[in-house]
Amino acid sequence: MEDFKTIIEPFRIKMVEQIQVSTKEQRKQYLKDAHYNTFLLDSEKVMIDFLTDSGTSAMSANQWAGIMQGDESYAGASSWHKMRKAVYDLTGHEFMLPTHQGRAAERILYGYLGGVGKTFISNTHFDTTRANIEFSGAEAIDIPIEEGKLPELYHPFKGNIDLLLLEKTILEKGAENVAGVILTVTNNSGGGQPVSMENAKGVAAICKKYHVKYFLDCCRIAENAYFIKHREAGYENKTYKEIAQELFSLTDGSIMSAKKDALVNMGGFLTLKDETIAIACKNLLIITEGFSTYGGLSGRDMEAIAIGLKEVFESDYLHYRIRSTAFLGEKLRAMGVPLMWPIGGHAVYIDAKALYNQIPVNEYPGQALVCELYVTGGIRSCEIGSVMFGKYDENKNLIPASMELVRLAIPRRVYTQSHIEYVIEVFEKIMQNKDVVKGIKIIEEPAFLRHFTSKFQQL
Ligand code: F0G
Repeated sequence: MEDFKTIIEPFRIKMVEQIQVSTKEQRKQYLKDAHYNTFLLDSEKVMIDFLTDSGTSAMSANQWAGIMQGDESYAGASSWHKMRKAVYDLTGHEFMLPTHQGRAAERILYGYLGGVGKTFISNTHFDTTRANIEFSGAEAIDIPIEEGKLPELYHPFKGNIDLLLLEKTILEKGAENVAGVILTVTNNSGGGQPVSMENAKGVAAICKKYHVKYFLDCCRIAENAYFIKHREAGYENKTYKEIAQELFSLTDGSIMSAKKDALVNMGGFLTLKDETIAIACKNLLIITEGFSTYGGLSGRDMEAIAIGLKEVFESDYLHYRIRSTAFLGEKLRAMGVPLMWPIGGHAVYIDAKALYNQIPVNEYPGQALVCELYVTGGIRSCEIGSVMFGKYDENKNLIPASMELVRLAIPRRVYTQSHIEYVIEVFEKIMQNKDVVKGIKIIEEPAFLRHFTSKFQQL
């Protein structure tokens, strides 16, 4: 787009979905009924849903047309060929296994390569990645660069992995015990921050030297390619797709949750270069997902993925996508809202510990902000702090997470500029009230993944 200040949504809307507008009094009651846990809220009671960018994209007219052309044959469907071609075109990896979502691909690949005594190393393993690795008996080690852990510090590629530590960890564990290095692009758990091509190449060189397998967790690959083009010397004249192709060319395989950058509501895949691993994984695929030419997907899903994987690399789309996320983050920052800087690709991460410095970590400042955002403006967000990652010591005292963040994850092609302007206005109220907000107490919690089902009380 030319040099205008306003970035228009590069699409028109031809079908709409009603948002139920509620009052503050209603929302107070809804939140109380949901035990102050926004995962327990019905979506109808939410006005702006920033819980996740996963599976929440709006599909295009072309994708919907593709849905009607889905070939639902059990074997060798034309939809499978279209998806395989789109994925091969991007990754250059010979083998592609369709799965119902990203974590199914993780379970198959990391379950097969993992097991007791094995180690995986990543910039940061996403929760389901870590869970699948640990479930196999293997260990998952995160080694992001130091800059990635400092919310306020500017660094163009805060998602990078620490290359010195990578080599050191491989030597310590013994290369034969390292089942794989997983580069997550962009680094979701680290604030949606990108990884540079230089860093990705550094990983490739180390993996080659020690004969260790190298995988991309590529669910936000197009968003990562945008940052490389605009921030890394030598890439300004490459297309986003060429940059993504180069990232894939360095690796032995990839895991994709198509619910993000393939612009669909459900789906995923696994790609591999190595035939032996591919055959073993295909056998596992057939046991729990489905036959190798559909895995966990319908023909229509495969059609929509094939189309979405092309649309996501269109430059007007990507520019709008990354700039609109940054627009929200930059406005909030200018208002004095403490947040992870610079703004990542798919989400704005608020530093709730800095915002509510009167609330101690064992009273969950992140969850307090999640509740305030909902009551004030009907905005649903997600705590990524001590509710999600906190543990207890033997005296039942909280061992807090390293940060108390709240993620505003932006669904793709769903909200317009005025929705975002509204969110900014809600934050003006949040800022006016920030000194009187109180903490949160957990009154009921499960043993695992407590953020999903815990019940809370406001203090
Ligand atoms: N890897 C990354 C980096 C992810 O962000 C996710 C999902 C997965 C793997 C798993 O994919 O959900 O299709 O099974 N992230 C979602 C989120 C849930 O809200 O960030 P899945």
